[in-house]
Amino acid sequence: MSIQPQRAVGKPVNRADGLLKVTGKATYAAEHAIEGIAHAVVIGATVGRGRIAGIDTAQALSEPGVLTVISHLNAPTLPYSGFGSLLNPNGKRLRVFQDDSIVFHGQPVAVLVAETPEAARYAAHLVKVSYDEQTPTTDLNAGSPDEPTAYSRGEADRAFRDSDVQLDATYRTARNHHNPMEPHATIARWDGDRVTVWDKTQFVVGVQMELAGAFGIGMEAVRVITPFVGGAFGSGLRTWPHVVIAALAARVTRRPTKLVLTRQQLYYGTGYRPAYEYRLRLGARRDGTVSAAVHEIKAETATYEQYTENILNPGQMLYATPHVRQAYSTVPLHVNAATWMRGPGYSSAAFAIESAMDELAHELAIDPIELRYRNEPSEDPSNGRRFSTRQLRECVEVGAREFGWDQRNPEPGATRDGNWLIGIGMAAGAYETLTMPAQCSVRLNADGTAVVASSTSEIGPGSYTSMAQVAADRLGLPVDQVRFQLGDSLMPVAPPVSGSQTMASVGSAVHDGCDKLRLQAIALAVTDVNSPLFAVDPTTITVSDGRLQVHNDPGRGESYQDLLARQGRSTLDATGIFVPDMVTPLSKSAYCATFAEVAVDAALGIVRVRRMLGVYDAGRIINPKLADSQALGGMTNGIGAALLEHTVTDHRDGRIVNANLADYLVPVNADVPDLRTVFLDGEDLAADPIGAKGLGEVVVVGVAPAIANAVFNATGRRIRELPITVEQLL
Ligand code: MOS
Repeated sequence: MSIQPQRAVGKPVNRADGLLKVTGKATYAAEHAIEGIAHAVVIGATVGRGRIAGIDTAQALSEPGVLTVISHLNAPTLPYSGFGSLLNPNGKRLRVFQDDSIVFHGQPVAVLVAETPEAARYAAHLVKVSYDEQTPTTDLNAGSPDEPTAYSRGEADRAFRDSDVQLDATYRTARNHHNPMEPHATIARWDGDRVTVWDKTQFVVGVQMELAGAFGIGMEAVRVITPFVGGAFGSGLRTWPHVVIAALAARVTRRPTKLVLTRQQLYYGTGYRPAYEYRLRLGARRDGTVSAAVHEIKAETATYEQYTENILNPGQMLYATPHVRQAYSTVPLHVNAATWMRGPGYSSAAFAIESAMDELAHELAIDPIELRYRNEPSEDPSNGRRFSTRQLRECVEVGAREFGWDQRNPEPGATRDGNWLIGIGMAAGAYETLTMPAQCSVRLNADGTAVVASSTSEIGPGSYTSMAQVAADRLGLPVDQVRFQLGDSLMPVAPPVSGSQTMASVGSAVHDGCDKLRLQAIALAVTDVNSPLFAVDPTTITVSDGRLQVHNDPGRGESYQDLLARQGRSTLDATGIFVPDMVTPLSKSAYCATFAEVAVDAALGIVRVRRMLGVYDAGRIINPKLADSQALGGMTNGIGAALLEHTVTDHRDGRIVNANLADYLVPVNADVPDLRTVFLDGEDLAADPIGAKGLGEVVVVGVAPAIANAVFNATGRRIRELPITVEQLL
C-alpha cells in the first residue's frame, strides 16, 4: 500500500451542504415537489385503551376535495410479513388499521386524504370516532414488570452487605421526546407494484424492509429517498406507522400522497426515551474502592412490543467493581413504543451511576475525581478484554485542569455569588464503539473529480463533508473535487445512522473504496508504456492534488485526467466495503468527562448552568469543526434532560398533556452558557481503519449527572430525579 498524505482529514472543513441549508434549498422529506400530490392527515385515538365502536365519515366525505377516509372498516388486509429488520424489537408490532383495538392514546385509527392540506386537516376534524373505553395503565409505578434481563459477576449482594460504606439510592429519569425541528413526514408514490417514498429516516434499508413486509412486496420494489434529515436523535431509526399509512393512502387513492405528522402527533407516533427507575446500591471500602454494585432497573415499554436498550453496559464496564449484579425489567404499559434517543441506555445509566459516585465521594470525603481514578479498570471487567484504547483518565485530568477543578470548594452550599449558590460538578462516561458492515461506490470522472455514494442518511453531523474528507485523502484529491452522495436506496447499502457508528462504518467503506480506486489508477499507469510512471514500483507512488507521482521524485508523474484521457476511459469505478473485525477480542468505547458549573438561586431554586466543558476520547476526529458542533449539540441536549425535558402523561386517559413545544421545554439560547469542548488526540485503528470511535452519543452521556452533581455542590441538595426542577429545590 502506498503512502498517502493526510490533508483533509483532521481539518475544520466547512459543511459541504451549508449553503443549501442556510438558503433553504436543502430538501427535507415533505418538501419534494411531486406532481399530482394528495395530502393525508392521521386521525388519532382520543382514548388510551379500548375498542373503536364506530366511525362516522359521512360529513367528512361530503367536504369538497376529500378523497377518502381509510380505517380498519375499509382498509385492505396488510400481510405484515417477513420482518427481519435488526432494529425491530421483540413483540407483535403495531399494524395500522387492521383491527378495532386501541392500546395507546393517539394511536392512528384512520387517515383522511384530500386534495389540499387545508381540506385534509379541516375534514379530519369532521370524522367522528366513538369508543368503548377502558382505563389504560400508563404509570411506570402501576404496571407489572416483565421477566428481567439479568447480569451477574462475583457475589454482589454479599459483597454489598460486607462493605465498609453502603449507598442505596433510587434515581428516576423522565420520559424524553426527541423533538427534532423537522417533523416526521413521508411522501409515497406507487408505480404499479413499486413504491417510492421520500421519507425522514435514519435507516434507508429499514424503511425498505418495513414497507416490503407490510405490503408483501420485495425490498427492491421499495425505493427510499432521504437527502436531508432535519434532526432526529434516534426518532428516525424505526419505520413508524405513519410511513405505512402514507404508502397505504397512496395505494388506495392511486395518487402520490404526502403525510406530515403534526408536532403533537410526533409525541405519539415516533417513540421516545423511556422513563426509568434505577435503584443502585454501591458498596465501597474506606479507601474508595467500589467492591459491589447492585443495579435494579425498571423502564416503560408498550404492550405490543418490548423495547430494551443497552442500559446495563455502563454498570458493567465503567469501573473495576468485582461484584456486580443487575436486573433490568420493562413494564408493559398502554403507551406507544419507546425507542433509542441520543446516548440510549448509557445516558440514563450515567445519571444513576455518576450521581452515585458523587454521593459516595462525598460520604467518604474523597475528591470525586480521585474516586474515579481509584476505580479505573485495567481491562474491561465485564469480559476480561483489553481496551482497544481508553483515555478516560486523561479526559478527567485534562478536564480538571482546563475547568479549574482546584477552585472547587468541596463543602456543599458554601460558595455564593450574591443570591446565587455556586457549584461545580463532573461526571465520566462511555459509549460503546459500534460498527456495522457498509458499502459505497466510488467514481473518478475524466475531469478529475470524484463522486462517492452510500445509502446512509445525514441527520446533522455533517456526513456530506466528513465522508468527502476521508475520500479526498485516499484518492489524493482536493476536498472540493470530491462529492459525497447519500440518502437513496439505489446507492450501496449502509447501516442505520445509529449509535454513532456512521463515521466509523461508512467512513471505513469510503476509505476502502477510495484506496481501491487509487490503486487501480496506479496499476493502470505503471502498466501503460506511454505513462511517465511506466514500470515504476506501484508502492512508491502517491497521489496528491489529483496527480500520480513518485513519492521521492514528485516531478515524475501524471494527472488522473491525463491517465484517463490516454486510456480512453470516461470513468474509473470501485466499490468500498467495510466489515467489522469480529475476531479480535477487544473492548471498544468512546469516553467523556463532563464538567459543569451551576448557579442556583438561593431563594427561588432556579438553576442556571454557567459554563460547561466536555473532554472526549473519541478516536480520530475527522473534522474538528463538525465535532465541536456535534458536542455543543450534545451538551445542549443534556442540559435539556437535566433541567427541562419531561413528557407528562395524564394517567387517567393516557394523553400526553404537554405534547407541544410550548409546554415541553427544551433549552433555548438563554439556557445555554459558554460551552467548551476538547478532543484528545488519538486514533483507534483496532476499532476501524479510519480510527474513529464515534461521537454523537458520548457527548450527551455525562451532561445530566455533571449538572446534578454541580447542583449538589452548590446547594447540598441531592436531586435524584430528572429533570431537576425548582419544586425539588425549594
Ligand atoms: Mo442514535 S439514538 O442511535 O440516533
